Formats: sequence, C-alpha cells, structure tokens
Amino acid sequence: MFLGIDIGTSAVKLVCADTDRILATSSIDIKTSSPQSGWSEQHPDIWWQATRDALSQLARQITLSEVQGIGLSGQMHGSVLLDRNLRPIRPAILWNDSRAIRECDELRAAQPQIGHIAGVLPLPGFTAPKIAWLKQHEPAQYAQLAHILLPKDYIGLCLHGELATDTSDAAGTMWLDQASRKWHVGIAEATDVAPDWLPQVFDGHVVVGTVTAHAAAETGLKPGVPVVAGGGDAATGAISLGATEPGRGFISLGTSGQLFVADRRYKPNPERYVHAFAHTLPDRWYQMAAMLNGARPISWIGGQLGLSAAEVVALAETGSGDRGPIFLPYLTGERSPLGDPHIRACFFGLEDSTTRADLCRSVVEAIAFCFADAAQSFGDTIDSLPELAAIGGGSQSDLLLGLIASVTGRPVIRSEGSDSGPAYGAAQLAACGVGTYGIADLSVQPQTKDRFEPVNHGALQGRLTLFRRLYTAVSAVD
Ligand code: XUL
Repeated sequence: MFLGIDIGTSAVKLVCADTDRILATSSIDIKTSSPQSGWSEQHPDIWWQATRDALSQLARQITLSEVQGIGLSGQMHGSVLLDRNLRPIRPAILWNDSRAIRECDELRAAQPQIGHIAGVLPLPGFTAPKIAWLKQHEPAQYAQLAHILLPKDYIGLCLHGELATDTSDAAGTMWLDQASRKWHVGIAEATDVAPDWLPQVFDGHVVVGTVTAHAAAETGLKPGVPVVAGGGDAATGAISLGATEPGRGFISLGTSGQLFVADRRYKPNPERYVHAFAHTLPDRWYQMAAMLNGARPISWIGGQLGLSAAEVVALAETGSGDRGPIFLPYLTGERSPLGDPHIRACFFGLEDSTTRADLCRSVVEAIAFCFADAAQSFGDTIDSLPELAAIGGGSQSDLLLGLIASVTGRPVIRSEGSDSGPAYGAAQLAACGVGTYGIADLSVQPQTKDRFEPVNHGALQGRLTLFRRLYTAVSAVD
C-alpha cells in the first residue's frame, strides 16, 4: 500500500491506498498567521508536526510499517527558507501573501519576456519576488539563506534528508524555464537568488530518497521506504483524476480554486494570468487559472456567523437567488484572471430584508462567478472539454457545482474519491515510483458519482454581469 501526504493550507491530509481503492485517510487542521495586512505565513515545523499527528491517526486504521512507497503533495509557491544547517530561518511566506508587489514590478522590468519563460506574469504569491522582498526588508535573515524549498519538499527533507523538488512545484516559483524544465539563471539572479540555493528538479514519480532511521523513529514508518518527488497540489489533484492528457480538465474547490487543463505542449497565455506550468509527469504541461479565494469564503462567512461550512451551504440553498446581495470574494486579492493583489472583498446591495441565508447564497454564488471568469480567460480551450471534474471540500456542495455548470456552460461531475484529491494523487505517484503502476496508469479516470448539467438561467447571467461591473467599480476605488 501507498501513502500520499498533502501539505494543504488549512490541513495536512493523508491518504493510504492500494492500486484500486482508498484504504484509510486522516487530516490535521493547521492555522495561518497574518501578522500584517496582506501577509500569510506558516512555520514549516507545524507541517512536520501535523504530518506526524496525522500519521498517528492513520496508524489506528492501518499498519504503517506496511507502507511500500510515499508520495508528497502540497500548497504551491510557498517560500521555505533554510540556513546552511537546513533549519528554517523564518516562517514560510505562502501562496496567498501579497507583500511583494513592488518586487513584481521590478522583476517584470528586469525580465520583460518573463511571462513567456516562466509561464505567468509576476505576482506576489509566487516564490521568486518574495526573496527580493526578504533581501530588502529582512537583510539579517537574507544573509543566512542557503537553500530554498517548496512546502512539500520540506516534508521530504524531514523524511529522507535530501534537497529535492519536482517539475510542477518548481514551475510555480517563477525560476523555472517551463519549456526546458530547468532553472533559469537570469530570473534567479534578478530576484537575488544564487542558483545553487535551488533544489534538484525531478519528475514527480521519481524516487528521490528513502525514509531515514531518524524519521522512522519519529513517525512509525519503516526505514528505507522509497519517497517520490510528488507534485504541487494542482498537479497531484490532476493525477487523482487522470488529468494527464490533452482535453482533460478539472476544477479544485479548496482554500484556493483552480481551473486546470492538461496538455502535451507548453502554451503560455500570460496576458490573462493563466498559468502555463510544467506538469509533474515528463512531456506534459498544463494551463491553470488559479483563484486565491477558492471555496475559502464559505468557511470565512461560516466563521462570522458561527456556522460550519456544511451549515453555510445548507443555508445558502434557502437564500434568495434573485434579490440577495452580490459578494466580491477577494478576501486575499485575486490572481487569475484579474492579477490584482490590491482588491478586497465586499457585499453590495444589502437591504433591510437581507437574511443570513441570502448572505450565504451570495457567497456560494460568488465562488461560481470566479470560475465563470476563469473559464472565459481560457477562450475556446474550455469549449472543447467534455466536462469538468470537481475536487476539494467545496465539491461536496450540489448547489455550488450546479451554479458552476450553469455559469461556465460546461457539465460538472463529482467522481469517487473527490474529497481526497491531491493526497490520493501523491499516493498514485508513489505506486508509479516503485513500479506497481506505469505512467499510462496515471491517466485512468475515476468513476463518476454525480453529474450537473448547465441550466440556462437569465437571472443568474444578469447577476454575473453585475458581479463583473462591481469589480470594475470597486477596483477603481483602491
Ligand atoms: C496554485 C495556488 C494554490 C496553492 C494552494 O497556483 O496558488 O492552489 O497551491 O492550494
């Protein structure tokens, strides 16, 4: 059996699977700190602690020493900054942090072709501008910098002791030349990074190390178990759905949102902030719209109203679809397709009669509207997709999937295992790494459980138009 470890933003999630089914899962919630407006940080040590706690939970369901291979997945773009003793210098700066705005302008001026080399235009969530920010604002920490990793790679370091990453996580740094899948020295140097601070890049199914005796003693895993490079959560989510070939697309509704389309060619489209990134498997790339707020506004409004995410969604079903307020969900700014780190969230059109249910409905609807904008930014590519599979916590809501189908005009499906996504994909990469699967097996698509067809709904289209006009008006204010 194979273990997948996903270092998410709101939880570390584990899946143990054999070749045809999930055997056990566990999850430990983690918190994000925001010491200043627009900042978003987590200390790498909390990921390792949460991984160990989640393994203890898993050990109550399966025998950990029977795990034959381990795959890693994680939130992309986070900067794990290590000194020469391989210790974190400071908390990691995450994918939804917007402090490095000025550094992005400087990078774009220094490397005018960057969108076509790195697959996307500079935005503060990516790893590269964060290092230029560090040099300027925390010179003492910058002076200690000796190695840079991505979040899942820090867990790899704790498990096997190697400094390694995979193509899909390297792709999200802005230092990768996406076409050749090698580090781009010019971009590294333009962001004050010595190329030898960057880890070696592997395909996601390649074994990069084995569990050390020390890690085995800390976790209960067997020493010597192979660990594959794994992938960023977009790529491992894709593996869990077989989205490895052209024409396969999916949406992810987690703390972030993603609209992902696999390809056999590198097709940059930087103008609309579509990310064109190397996939975790050889000779494959993908295009992705990455939305910073995903399904997170559901837990945010739940936190304000004292409701769980499931209660918010249930209440939203009873809210008014026609006359409720319009919500802009940009709690942490937005990446695709707006490229706007300054924008923030708001409700518009509150009335004396507005209810909690109306608020919840407009929050769920706004998430769907972001996917309509994302689909539009892909142009014709989306029309050629037969359907969009949905994964992540938000994919459990019928209301949300129905709304996304209607506003994008594409059928949306929910598959078996849709709530385990990236961790399951990481376990499948591990099975490939030890030879139980071939790469072709990773394109197998799971069984469809539910299907949501687009419904032509005039009132919803009218509200989408209002949502877009509201963004234009609010962005002019800040
Ligand atoms: C993708 C992105 C997020 C993070 C966290 O570009 O920023 O999806 O990977 O999930």
